[in-house]
Amino acid sequence: MDKFIINGGKRLQGKVQISGAKNASLALMPATILASGESVLYKTPELNDVFTMIKLLNQLGIETEFSNYILSLNTNNITSQIAPYEHVKKMRASVYVLGPLLARYGYAKVSLPGGCAWGPRPINLHIEGLKKLGAQIELEQGYIIAKSNQLVGAKINFDKPSVGATGNILMAACLAKGTTVLNNAAMEPEITNLVQFLINMGAKINGINTSILEIEGIDELKPAVINTIPDRIEAGTLLVAAAMTKGNISIEGGIDSHLYSILSKLEDSGAKLTISENEISIDAKDIVINNVDVTTGVFPGYPTDMQAQWIAYMTLANGVSTVIDTVYLDRFSHVGELTRLGAEITVQDNSAIIRGVPRLNGAKVMSTDLRASASLVLAGLAAEGTTEVLRVYHLDRGYEKLEQKLKSLGADIERVSSPEF
Ligand code: EPZ
Repeated sequence: MDKFIINGGKRLQGKVQISGAKNASLALMPATILASGESVLYKTPELNDVFTMIKLLNQLGIETEFSNYILSLNTNNITSQIAPYEHVKKMRASVYVLGPLLARYGYAKVSLPGGCAWGPRPINLHIEGLKKLGAQIELEQGYIIAKSNQLVGAKINFDKPSVGATGNILMAACLAKGTTVLNNAAMEPEITNLVQFLINMGAKINGINTSILEIEGIDELKPAVINTIPDRIEAGTLLVAAAMTKGNISIEGGIDSHLYSILSKLEDSGAKLTISENEISIDAKDIVINNVDVTTGVFPGYPTDMQAQWIAYMTLANGVSTVIDTVYLDRFSHVGELTRLGAEITVQDNSAIIRGVPRLNGAKVMSTDLRASASLVLAGLAAEGTTEVLRVYHLDRGYEKLEQKLKSLGADIERVSSPEF
């Protein structure tokens, strides 16, 4: 069990490269199932959720090679269409294999994801969408069993935009007979990256970057290549870390149009931002942190995956701020740990009220999920004294070498193995 030991108070300064987007890779990898042959995903981040997905795909019979951020996947010899509980319980994104396996083989048996650190995670929108495409779906001993001799195009309206359901149904529709229209589809950049990859595979998809996707099903897709987009949540996390430590950093490789909501909130808080061709720079050297309210929403709104990081930031703001999460109504497991560092936060339903304090003081805190652990690291970087962040395996799921990146920016942070659980 690793932990981080952070001696806070160091301003972050310098340049850092953004890695490929975890949530793009986790959709692109299963998409390769739709075609027989070798696909190549460039700029794939080396982080634990990617390795978990690789293990699952290997179990299906897919051969993979992964080095220098280049992930190749050979789907010539898929031997199983079953995604077992031990994989899916570790990572909900495993459910992304459902649509592609069903579309290519007419059968898929995928474990229900179960709950996760912050509550139940339904997949009703995935199941309803596949049924609309003509699949027979049964639930048996915690597994979804999906069957179809031939999926048929349909008009599908999502009650609410869902990244995963959009990805799953989109992938299945590529091999359905006839036309599918997905209305109220998710517009996250990771979905756009997936749409582009499917088009590279020969899929006929109109409406990229919009909430209405029209897919003309075809008989066969071909393997293809794609560049994974940069991780907007890693970029946002590092920018907030710079603001919290009154530093000034430049992030390289980010795409500003993926970050507008975050950049705008950082400017409202008093940070100075400069956007150039391949760099986004933040200067917070003289910042007096303004209290800034945030309400999360689907893209292009402020991302829920940056909610915990913003709460950490606002603990040091002048005045009171409110953070409302409209995507997940109970994603606040980081609040209890932040108060151990001296933060003053109260949670009411899906809102957190943060009363800024002059400083945070280092303490031992416990990670509970991926973005919660990121918020604790940020708070530790800004706190006075030493903070220990336990169970950083949560962090390793979604950030590539975060402590090395922070250290290169001047943070005093060490990863140590710890017998403490
Ligand atoms: C993706 O999860 C991301 N994960 C999440 O990032 C992210 O928080 C989420 O999208 C929202 O942006 C990956 O891409 C691998 P959703 P996903 O379906 O697809 C409800 C991280 O930290 N819902 O868009 O599972 C759901 O409960 C992770 O990197 C249903 O009700 O999210 C939630 O309230 C965490 N029924 C809302 O929709 C369904 O069938 C959005 O979920 C599906 C979802």
